[in-house]
Amino acid sequence: MPRFAVAIALPQAELVAVAEQLAEAGYEPIEVRTAEDLEVLLSLRNDVGVAILDGENDFDRTLEMYALLHDDDRNIPALMVVAARALDRMSLAGKARVNDEYFTRPYSAESLRWRVEAMLIRAEIPVDVTSSGIIDSETEVDQPSGDTNRGQIVIVFNPKGGVGKTTIAVNMAAMLQVRKGQRVLLIDCDTVTGHVASSLGMENVRTVADAWTEDLSTGMSESFAEIAAPHLNGVSVLVMAESPLHTEILDPKRVAEAITTACRVFDWVIVDMHPDYGPLNQVIFERADKIVVPVTPDVPAIRAAVQFREVAVELEIRDRLAMVVNRANSGVSVADMERTVGMPALAEVRSAGMVFVRAANEGRSAVERFPREKVIDDIESLCDRMMEHRDSGAAKSGQGFLGIFRGGRNTNPSVRAS
Ligand SMILES: Nc1ncnc2c1ncn2[C@@H]1O[C@H](COP(=O)(O)OP(=O)(O)OP(=O)(O)O)[C@@H](O)[C@H]1O
Ligand SMILES: [Mg+2]
Repeated sequence: MPRFAVAIALPQAELVAVAEQLAEAGYEPIEVRTAEDLEVLLSLRNDVGVAILDGENDFDRTLEMYALLHDDDRNIPALMVVAARALDRMSLAGKARVNDEYFTRPYSAESLRWRVEAMLIRAEIPVDVTSSGIIDSETEVDQPSGDTNRGQIVIVFNPKGGVGKTTIAVNMAAMLQVRKGQRVLLIDCDTVTGHVASSLGMENVRTVADAWTEDLSTGMSESFAEIAAPHLNGVSVLVMAESPLHTEILDPKRVAEAITTACRVFDWVIVDMHPDYGPLNQVIFERADKIVVPVTPDVPAIRAAVQFREVAVELEIRDRLAMVVNRANSGVSVADMERTVGMPALAEVRSAGMVFVRAANEGRSAVERFPREKVIDDIESLCDRMMEHRDSGAAKSGQGFLGIFRGGRNTNPSVRAS
């Protein structure tokens, strides 16, 4: 991963903390006091990825520096640090570019570090966004319309491990079943490290691999609805395989067909995925109505989501993607994440301490075990949005998640406070 130099023109009191944070993130912070300093730096180095400028004090100096960043064929993004009240003056006489950003005082050095990281990720991976930062719904492709009476296939995926895929899948399933009165099949398609059943206290469940292997000798062909086991909360739980070794029987096409058939019996088929792009996952992506992408506010998870978005373009499924910002209250703004990942946030799920772990230890979902926790309200909002989307028939009109998002949220990602 290339590590950039970051030019910093901030007052001494702020410089030290910011430089420390950036160095910790692996960037090279370089102080620039004057426009001449910056000019020399830019003539010597071509790895300056971002310049942090002071948009309040010595404005003329800032304008000079800004011009240097965009001299000749350079286009180095500037992060302008200003007071909230000064934002209006920051139009830079109409010269501000899309890749510049503003950051308002007072701020924490850590949040500024995150913003710089986000800017550098964007610089490195061209993000297909409009100037508002959100993918234009006009460019979306239609979803397969299919049979509108069938259940919805929702897969939960991010190629990065540990971002909350299983947690969100299990609790979304429980919420839809218990509070929303829906019939839900929850499938653990993570044949390597799957822990849906164990987190619901269901040991030694008969798996699809077991059933289909037995079927070879009996001549039967059991459906997912028949193989699944009911949890106490009413959700039907299906595990693909217990061991990652004997999964040859799980022919991807057959699995995909079985998932589609299950949609005739269930209102929702929620699929927890292993973080990979193998053939099994690819056929499931293809069948999905929605792909929920949990992303935690950290650079590796965001990078993984950006990568997935690029893969999704190739697989022609991008319009089905929607981000769920997990552990959303850890200091990074959701608007920042939407802009960086290039996906709208369908919902936010706050960080809930030990709530999920404690519920799993008791073999329950947090929805049943801790129904009054605020994080369960977040899960409910997520499910409400999914149901709204289904009921609005947006999928049929090709509106996808983004249209709902645009109508339902009020963010202005072009100019945001820190
Ligand atoms: N919002 C949250 N608040 C508190 N803890 C959370 C939250 N989301 C996830 N966790 C915890 O983080 C850990 C990882 O979550 P989880 O197992 O759901 O991730 P995953 O993406 O399924 O991982 P893997 O890729 O390994 O399957 C778990 O211990 C879970 O309880
Ligand atoms: Mg998991």
